[in-house]
Amino acid sequence: MSTHAETKPVTIPALRAMKGTPQVWLTAYTTPMARLLDPHCDVLLVGDSLAMVVYGQPSTLDLPLGTMIGHGAAVVRGARQACVIVDMPFGTYQESKEQAFRNAARILAETGCQGVKLEGGIPMAETIRYLTDRGIPVCGHVGLMPQAVMAAGGFRATGRTDDEAARVTADALAVAEAGAFAMVVEGTVEPVAADITRRVPIPTIGIGASPHCDGQVLVIDDLLGTFNDFTPRFVKRYAELAPQIGDAARRYAEDVRARRFPAPENTFRQRR
Ligand code: KIV
Repeated sequence: MSTHAETKPVTIPALRAMKGTPQVWLTAYTTPMARLLDPHCDVLLVGDSLAMVVYGQPSTLDLPLGTMIGHGAAVVRGARQACVIVDMPFGTYQESKEQAFRNAARILAETGCQGVKLEGGIPMAETIRYLTDRGIPVCGHVGLMPQAVMAAGGFRATGRTDDEAARVTADALAVAEAGAFAMVVEGTVEPVAADITRRVPIPTIGIGASPHCDGQVLVIDDLLGTFNDFTPRFVKRYAELAPQIGDAARRYAEDVRARRFPAPENTFRQRR
C-alpha cells in the first residue's frame, strides 16, 4: 500500500491477506507523530523500543504496562487508517497464558488498538494459541528478541550457524501454526529470513532481516535521525533531524539571551 488517498482503515484480516505484498510498518509513540505517519503506513507499531527511544532506558526490560497503554492510546488517537499494534512489555505475558490474556485484553480495551505483539517462538506458541482462540489478534516476533537481551548476552543477529538457523526457523513455524496474523523477524541473517518468509503462510515483517520479507519495520527515530548515536547496519536514515533540532535550540537560546525573542509580533497588546 502506498500513500492512501482514501481513509479506509487497515484491518487485521487485510494485513493477513497481504502475504506477498510489501507492508509498511513504522513505530510511533505519540499522537502528533502518528498523524504524520498514518497516511503512509499499513501499521503503526507502538513498540516497546519506547523504553529506550523515549524514556532513555538501556534496554526494553523496564517498561510499565500503564506507560505502554498511555502511548498506545495516544497513537490510536492519531491514526485514521493505519492499523495500530501495541507491544506487550516484558513481564506482562511470559508467566502464564492467563496472565497474557488478562494484559492483552487490557491493552486492547484501554488503547483501542487492533492487536498486540509479543516476543518468543516455540515457548510462546501455546500462549499465542490461547490469545488468538479468545479473539485477540497476535503478531509474533522471532529472531533477535530484545526482551531476551540478557540471556543472549547482547543485541546480536541470529541464524549465522546451522543450529541458530534451525532454531529461528522452528520458532517462526511454531508462531505461524499457533495462529499469529503476522510476525516480526528481527536481526536474522538474510537467507534464513528469506527462507522463513517462503515457508510460513503469514506475512513476515523484517528489521535487520531480508528484502524478501513481506514487509519492513523501522524505529521512527532511527529513520528520522533524531539522535547522534551509532547507526546500526540495518537502519537507513531518511532524514538527519538531530543537527536541525540542535540548531533550532541554539538560535532560540541566542534570541532569548539577546532579548530578540519574543518580538512585538509574538506578544499580546491591550485593546484601546
Ligand atoms: O519495539 C519495537 O520497536 C519493535 C520493532 C523494532 C519491531 O519491536
